[in-house]
Amino acid sequence: MIAPSLLASDFAYLADEANRVAEAVDWLHVDVMDNHFVPNLTIGLPVVEALRKATSVPLDCHLMIDNPDRWAIGYAEAGARNVTFHAEATDDPAALARRLRAAGSLAGLAIDRDTRVEPYLEFLPEFDTLLIMTIKAGFGGQSFIPELLDKVRTARAAAGDLAIRIEVDGGINADTIEAAAQAGADAFVAGTAIYGADDPADAAHRLRARAQAGASRR
Ligand code: DX5
Ligand code: ZN
Repeated sequence: MIAPSLLASDFAYLADEANRVAEAVDWLHVDVMDNHFVPNLTIGLPVVEALRKATSVPLDCHLMIDNPDRWAIGYAEAGARNVTFHAEATDDPAALARRLRAAGSLAGLAIDRDTRVEPYLEFLPEFDTLLIMTIKAGFGGQSFIPELLDKVRTARAAAGDLAIRIEVDGGINADTIEAAAQAGADAFVAGTAIYGADDPADAAHRLRARAQAGASRR
């Protein structure tokens, strides 16, 4: 699955930016940042509600926020297809995952750069998506950290037959996506590599082909 990050798009034209990639992608990745969990501040629930009406592409909300126990359900109720919150921001990830699923969305757990994945492997059956950051969460345009793919390998091995998606986020581009796919990722967030391209839909198609090449070598 390819999920362009709207963080790298033109915020003055979000609906247009969403729809220009619609035929080429699976999800639209929406980076919600609260200026507390991460220093950056981006967009929140009212914008997600508006985007939901403006595009038919399923929304993949990545909540880089404190207290997701308080705020995450609103995104599910707004119609997000997948709602991912950070492991570092909650004490009871399984409980929030169950609430998200009950509210009608898929549930995702994100693991930031400095967090080990092993303590969270026991929760995989509660989740639809595991988001392994391949940078430190907070800003677009950073360089991919290849060592973090060890977490993808660990999680993919632990997942066994579970139908969980393993999503990678940060520095994913034509040079890095194959290694991520080979490590076991099957959902790929890309901001700069898609919205920084002259033709974002074409860039998404090219990334998908590269990901398929990587996956075939797994
Ligand atoms: C950063 C966000 C990413 C960001 C990725 O914390 O979670 O989704 O948009 O941007 P690129 O693809 O430019 O690294
Ligand atoms: Zn993200």
